[in-house]
Amino acid sequence: MQLTDRINRIQISPTAAVLAEAEKLKAKGMDIADFGPGEPDFPTPDHIKKAAIRAIQEDKSKYTPAGGIMPLREAICAWHKRELHSSFEPWECVVSVGGKHSIFNVISVLIQRGDEVIIASPYWVSFPDIVKYAGGTPVFVGTNPEDGFTLRASVIEKAITPRTKLLIVNSPCNPTGGVVPPEEYERILAVCKKHNVWLMGDECYSHFTYEPNKPYSIASAPRAKDKVIIIGSMSKTFAMTGWRIGYTLGPEALIQALIKLQSQSTSNPTSVAQYAALEAMTGTMETVPAMLAEYAKRRKRIVEGLRAISGVTCEWPGGAFYAFPNISEHLSKVGGKQALAKSCTEISKMLLDKAHVAVVPGEAFGAPGYLRLSYATSIERIEEGLRRLERFFARAEAAA
Ligand SMILES: Cc1ncc(COP(=O)(O)O)c(C=O)c1O
Repeated sequence: MQLTDRINRIQISPTAAVLAEAEKLKAKGMDIADFGPGEPDFPTPDHIKKAAIRAIQEDKSKYTPAGGIMPLREAICAWHKRELHSSFEPWECVVSVGGKHSIFNVISVLIQRGDEVIIASPYWVSFPDIVKYAGGTPVFVGTNPEDGFTLRASVIEKAITPRTKLLIVNSPCNPTGGVVPPEEYERILAVCKKHNVWLMGDECYSHFTYEPNKPYSIASAPRAKDKVIIIGSMSKTFAMTGWRIGYTLGPEALIQALIKLQSQSTSNPTSVAQYAALEAMTGTMETVPAMLAEYAKRRKRIVEGLRAISGVTCEWPGGAFYAFPNISEHLSKVGGKQALAKSCTEISKMLLDKAHVAVVPGEAFGAPGYLRLSYATSIERIEEGLRRLERFFARAEAAA
């Protein structure tokens, strides 16, 4: 079939592919220790669910303005101001169908053929493909485990060319858990301003940071608003992945362009989900620290468990809910031993087929040698998964 060059430039999200494979096995009745999904295992809080039910009963089921209902745009700005110390006004805010849609739309209106977009690697799977779909060129800058996978201003400055239009910073980062410290983030912003490059801060995991890190937005820096675009989402913070509500905060001209694009594509995000999000932004936040405390326990268990496996190293993630172990020792011949496989993609397949453990291979994030394990799953499942991983790697070692 003759499809556009545009669609042929991108691939199906590799995380979606892993999820689909694990789901197939589960449907056959197999017990899978599933570290695949990047979504909270907690239910959406009750007060948010009730607000949605109320909206349905009150017939709030008509079209809304394409950029979202004004009370929600106001509430997002107020929430962001209170929680992350920014100063956006409702006309500097647009509501979209999840954070991914927000990112897709921002890149669609900012990036065209010839433009370069700097992305920190390891990266969230969708950034490079969205840039390619828009006709731009992703330019990768490395982060590394010795540095807690944080991004450095000096590294970014070296990657900037006259064609650089945008830098994407995802802090806390999926998949590494890396957090950019505020002082470094401000240095990064200064570099962007100096070279007239937009800085897009993806804050989807803003409220899942572990001590000593704290929730932080680059929008709180002095005079940040000239060059900063913020992406936020209800998905992780409020366990609302399926509701599909995200937002963009940025200069009014950009927001107007995003609303124009939505008016000719999706129209408004689902009306009922917008009322649920309005409750998330204005109601109690007590579920957020409760989830964070649970993630902190799981983080400790999974990192310690992974570190105990031979040939595996793992840094402490500073935020989000992913462990990102390096298993490259199992990919190379060492001490006369055979390599277990050629790639982490192969190892992931073996893990699913033989050990019934679902993980995402590092190649999906531009990080061969790594695996991503989401610990948004219960401690019991983490224990079971670790037992299976331990057995798998021990047997592989014995056979090598
Ligand atoms: C780094 C990052 N950004 C954005 C998103 C998009 O989330 P959503 O579209 O559910 O708001 C995700 C989801 O996994 C993510 O990990």
